[in-house]
Amino acid sequence: MTKKISHIKQNPHPEKEKLASKGTPDTSRRSFFRKIWGWVALAAGVELAGLSIPFISSGRKKQKKEETGNFIEIAQVSDVPVGSVLPYRSGRLYICHLEDGGFLAVSIKCTHLGCSVEWDEEKKEFICPCHHSMFSLSGEVVNPPATRALNIYPIKIENDVIKVNLEKPILRKHFNKSQETYA
Ligand code: FES
Repeated sequence: MTKKISHIKQNPHPEKEKLASKGTPDTSRRSFFRKIWGWVALAAGVELAGLSIPFISSGRKKQKKEETGNFIEIAQVSDVPVGSVLPYRSGRLYICHLEDGGFLAVSIKCTHLGCSVEWDEEKKEFICPCHHSMFSLSGEVVNPPATRALNIYPIKIENDVIKVNLEKPILRKHFNKSQETYA
């Protein structure tokens, strides 16, 4: 009877082999931390993108608002003959058509203490009922105690429609022609 000799070598340390196939404890720990850092970086990137998108879009919205402005239609050019005034009470202003053809949107508020001025058709002047300041058609002071011309609002004329931006009153010391808008 011949004895069969086994040539298969038995591994005396099977656990070591297992570990070798998986990597040493040191390398597997390193790869674990690498994965964690990867996830942290990914989460930070997503968070940053989430924060910056509304920020960028709000900047775009603001820019668009400034470009278009908030102008509202007040009247047709033909509604305000040269030398006349059209009150726009809800906007607390007058549309004034000056002798040289220019338009102004003049605030109703007296620059002395804020009473509402009235247009006097006979005198062709704005008169304040509180302390009798007077202003010309262009809003310039004619009679004190007011010392500053009536405020004006940005105005533009498109297709013979007068539009005014009520959000931004412009304070001025005196009237000058550069303040006028032409049809
Ligand atoms: S508030 Fe108009 S003159 Fe004083």
